[in-house]
Amino acid sequence: MPRKPKAKAKAEIDVEEMVKEIVEEEPAPLDQFKLEDLEGVGRVTAQKLRDAGYYSLRDVAYASAHELALVIGSEERAMNIIRSAQRLLGYGHEFITAKELFEKRKNLEYISTGVRALDGLLGGGVEVGSITELIGEFGAGKTQVCHQLAVMVQLPRGSGGLGARALYVDTEGTFRPERIVQIARHRGLDPEQALENIVYARAYNSDHQMLLIDEAKKIIEKENIKLVIVDSLINHFRSEYPGRENLASRQQKLNKHISQLHRLASLYEVAVVVTNQVMSAPDVFFGNPMRPAGGNIMAHGCTYRIWLRKGKEGKRIAKIIDSPMHAEKEAVFVITENGLEDL
Ligand code: GTP
Ligand code: MG
Repeated sequence: MPRKPKAKAKAEIDVEEMVKEIVEEEPAPLDQFKLEDLEGVGRVTAQKLRDAGYYSLRDVAYASAHELALVIGSEERAMNIIRSAQRLLGYGHEFITAKELFEKRKNLEYISTGVRALDGLLGGGVEVGSITELIGEFGAGKTQVCHQLAVMVQLPRGSGGLGARALYVDTEGTFRPERIVQIARHRGLDPEQALENIVYARAYNSDHQMLLIDEAKKIIEKENIKLVIVDSLINHFRSEYPGRENLASRQQKLNKHISQLHRLASLYEVAVVVTNQVMSAPDVFFGNPMRPAGGNIMAHGCTYRIWLRKGKEGKRIAKIIDSPMHAEKEAVFVITENGLEDL
């Protein structure tokens, strides 16, 4: 595949073609080893693993024996293969001190939101290796934040970006290349280039959405992608599994999708940003009856949760909820034709 993917951030994109193109391609050489280098894995097993979405040793090394057994049959065999992958990649099983973890966290990378107040709230921007969830009612600005980040990630390091590209999974058909052009111009980027730097796919249902994230693994490294956006994470799941009777299956599948995204974030060192809707909880009589959709699975699955709401005179207010380390502060910004800006 040439450096530039054929799928550009333009309004008319043949997604079927794009998926076919990605599927037919050989996976990127993510590690120096192939699946066939694993102990007890021959060509047939390697193919089974690839068909199930385990493309690299890293995918196998972090799998659980239970899930791998669903692909290759026995848990014992799965455990041996996982161990073999971990050995080849040199993963230890040691504990580290909090000091070591502290030092590790100092090297974390962030993508600036382009809004000082919001970056301040987030401790520098959207964190690489984590999932950041944008929550809010319609028109709150979730999609606008996604557009802005897809441009910001392209800025050089030192200017708020990571000099990298974005992968945008659009489930609602609300991605607008025209908006990217405006934001890129304002940030001093060549708009054409900014569009080339966004790899776009429309997800038509929840299975397709999960397939796209699986396929994303193959292109992240070779296409220098540092930001993966899923806008919105949940709408297909909600519409395909309506009502109480489908809740258990929906949550199970959603859980799988979120683990998929978690793995993508931590193994491939990208920032994952997802959006989520709010719904009114019928059982709340006092206080705010609005709740993020997706229940506990979403609440526990996403590392940082930002609640966006509309304020007076077009202002937007962002607040971090359920964070392991942020105070419950608020940041105010505005949406203009330049994108998101400080007040
Ligand atoms: P849903 O997807 O419907 O749940 O909403 P959302 O939270 O994704 O909202 P979105 O990000 O689409 O925000 C839409 C709002 O952004 C609009 O109502 C406008 O207020 C604002 N907006 C979008 N584009 C522009 C623009 O070019 N100029 C200005 N000034 N505002 C804009
Ligand atoms: Mg939206």
